[in-house]
Amino acid sequence: MIDLQQRSIEIIKGWQFDGAYAACLSFSQYGYSWLRDGAWIAHGMAAVGQTASARAFYQWGARTLWRYRAKVDSLLAKLARGEALLESDYLPTRFKLDGDINQDDWPNFQLDGYGAWLWGLVQFVQAHDDQALWAETRPAVRLTVEYLAALWQSPNYDSWEEHRDHVHPSTLAALYGGFRAVESQEAGIVPAGLADLIRDFVLTRAVAPAGHVMKYLGNEAVDANLLWLAVPYRLLELDDPRFQATLTKIERDIHRPGGGVYRYRKDTYYGGGEWLLLTLWLAWVYLERRQPERARPLFAWAEAQATPTGEMPEQVGDHVLDPSMVDYWINRWGTSASPLLWSHGMYLLLKSKLKD
Ligand code: BGC
Repeated sequence: MIDLQQRSIEIIKGWQFDGAYAACLSFSQYGYSWLRDGAWIAHGMAAVGQTASARAFYQWGARTLWRYRAKVDSLLAKLARGEALLESDYLPTRFKLDGDINQDDWPNFQLDGYGAWLWGLVQFVQAHDDQALWAETRPAVRLTVEYLAALWQSPNYDSWEEHRDHVHPSTLAALYGGFRAVESQEAGIVPAGLADLIRDFVLTRAVAPAGHVMKYLGNEAVDANLLWLAVPYRLLELDDPRFQATLTKIERDIHRPGGGVYRYRKDTYYGGGEWLLLTLWLAWVYLERRQPERARPLFAWAEAQATPTGEMPEQVGDHVLDPSMVDYWINRWGTSASPLLWSHGMYLLLKSKLKD
């Protein structure tokens, strides 16, 4: 039997270059480093003792963001002058492995990954009391906070690179979590009251009449990324009725009984299969709720999706939501991504938590 923890570490290290993690080099579209994916891969690696790899990722992020400080300054100056922004004014959602920005039409204005990076970096600094890393990354943290503070209310692509024209509570949760983390590390970087403002915005604008938080303002469906509201970003506590209602709806609408978790009901990407990393996320929520008996079957399901050589895909297509869309994506981009480093990162994280 393959040791999936060891294999995951090996796969992740194999696709880490000078700190940057490639999302999935064998998939035509994913040969880049995303801050969102990377933060979770690093968090998982650190959880199983691979601290050098995780640290290198945070350093890569800081180096890369600092490289674009002039871009952020000119965006802020444009905003101060009241000028409209162009799509090319924003920081990208993903970088080439050497930190370059790719010139293509991939959806770019997306903020949640920046929040995830801040959150993950602070967790790492605090867990390892790594003040040297904080000193090194601090200028990039300040820059990132300035960028996010200026733009948090602007509609931008969600974590799945969809719905550019909407405001997504999961994205706001990531910014909230990132800001709170930075505040806990050092006062004075995040503008006073900003995190509370974001939270109030979500609670006054994004709670559906039925009591759950919605996928985006104006769409009362749920998305599995709403789990982030509580775990890990704590915009809502686990026992908050609004989170409980969201969780109940996620369980009912997008968890296949005995199987995995879908992104959202109307997903058509590769037909809309069950995502390993989201199934592991739901397991994490159950662990935080002290329900290990509910977490274990989800973990076992995710583990069972690994290929015989220990590769964990992005999603599995045995029970897709829209079978008519499977071929469309295969013809466009080839078979779906595997191994996906983010799936492996979440696997490592949950593996370490289930040991406790
Ligand atoms: C997902 C993103 C992810 C990227 C790389 C996209 O299909 O929507 O969340 O960052 O793949 O894994």
